[in-house]
Amino acid sequence: MRFFNTSGPVVAADHYCIPPLKRLNLAEVRRLIRDKRYFVLHAPRQTGKTSALLVLRDLLNAEGTYRCVYVNVEGGQAGREDVEQVMRTILGELASWARLTLRDEFLDEIWVDILAKYGPHVALREALTRWAQADPKSLVLLIDEIDALIGDSLLSVLRQLRAGYVLRPGGFPQSVVLCGVRDVRDYRIHSSSANAIIAGGSAFNIKARSLRLGDFSQDEVIALLNQHTEETGQIFTSDAQETIWTQTQGQPWLVNALADETCFHDGDTADRHRPITATDIRNAQEQLIQRRETHLDQLADKLKEDRVQRIVEPLLSGAEERRFIDRDLEYIRDLGLLAQDRPLRIGQSHLRRGRPA
Ligand SMILES: Nc1ncnc2c1ncn2[C@@H]1O[C@H](COP(=O)(O)OP(=O)(O)OP(=O)(O)O)[C@@H](O)[C@H]1O
Ligand SMILES: [Mg+2]
Repeated sequence: MRFFNTSGPVVAADHYCIPPLKRLNLAEVRRLIRDKRYFVLHAPRQTGKTSALLVLRDLLNAEGTYRCVYVNVEGGQAGREDVEQVMRTILGELASWARLTLRDEFLDEIWVDILAKYGPHVALREALTRWAQADPKSLVLLIDEIDALIGDSLLSVLRQLRAGYVLRPGGFPQSVVLCGVRDVRDYRIHSSSANAIIAGGSAFNIKARSLRLGDFSQDEVIALLNQHTEETGQIFTSDAQETIWTQTQGQPWLVNALADETCFHDGDTADRHRPITATDIRNAQEQLIQRRETHLDQLADKLKEDRVQRIVEPLLSGAEERRFIDRDLEYIRDLGLLAQDRPLRIGQSHLRRGRPA
């Protein structure tokens, strides 16, 4: 029996889901890869980035034109600006993912020696070059959580990708996708070694495009809820469907969390003959807030940042005086705290209490 997933990437066999690739512009992604482009995929937390990347990887590998590897570099965050340690983590992760997903042990056998010989500022470039040269099939590299890296470590990764870019596809990955919450162009990276702020766009000026993953449309929300109805017979009243839509505006995790809370946690509604009503949804919303679910808690934490407060406070209080720095605005939009469009308004990727039904 499938269920609404609220932790980690979706797996179609286990979870109700909107086909993850439908959420990307697949034709454009294919074109960018074919044209040997390096690009960014970004969206707020819990939107489905990793779900989409994993399915893209499996699709490309099944088609067989490319060797595609997904790597999550979040582990490099702990090393902060110790570039040696961070490169060790990234190379280790990359080798491990290659072994796991492609059964390719090439990197695993060479990266330690490459790091020892070339040092952390060249090792990634050199390892990717050797790996690309080892097989005529071009490499596609999907790097997730790129913005978990900071300062000199992030700069070193970006610069090594830029350095190898001219060698592609024979001597470097054909295409690299950098995935994170923010667009690399907007990063202002503080380099401790240079004691300077460096624009991400200048360290990685080879980026062709930035793709942004959106939230679910209302049709997608309904399609997701209908999967539960089809599999269990339990219906959501149209009021309940509407409430989920108005309260989440399609934010993917929230939609799943509300539906999961009503269908799988509440004893009353475990009876599948009992329809899910708008009241059930509102109760579920209250439960999620009370429990301080991780995703909500993380967003709430962001409200403590000065640059977030500078923008969010006047919006909430309705103050007339609104002078914002564009960079701050972009940052807060990337987090999903503000809606993408104009006029400026609070995004609904977090639950609002007390709104009339
Ligand atoms: N295709 C989908 N269909 C249904 N729900 C989805 C889909 N993609 C994502 N979700 C919902 O979003 C949640 C997060 O998915 P995923 O881990 O892929 O997002 P993410 O953007 O990588 O998150 P993070 O930024 O925290 O890494 C899932 O647990 C699920 O609730
Ligand atoms: Mg993710």
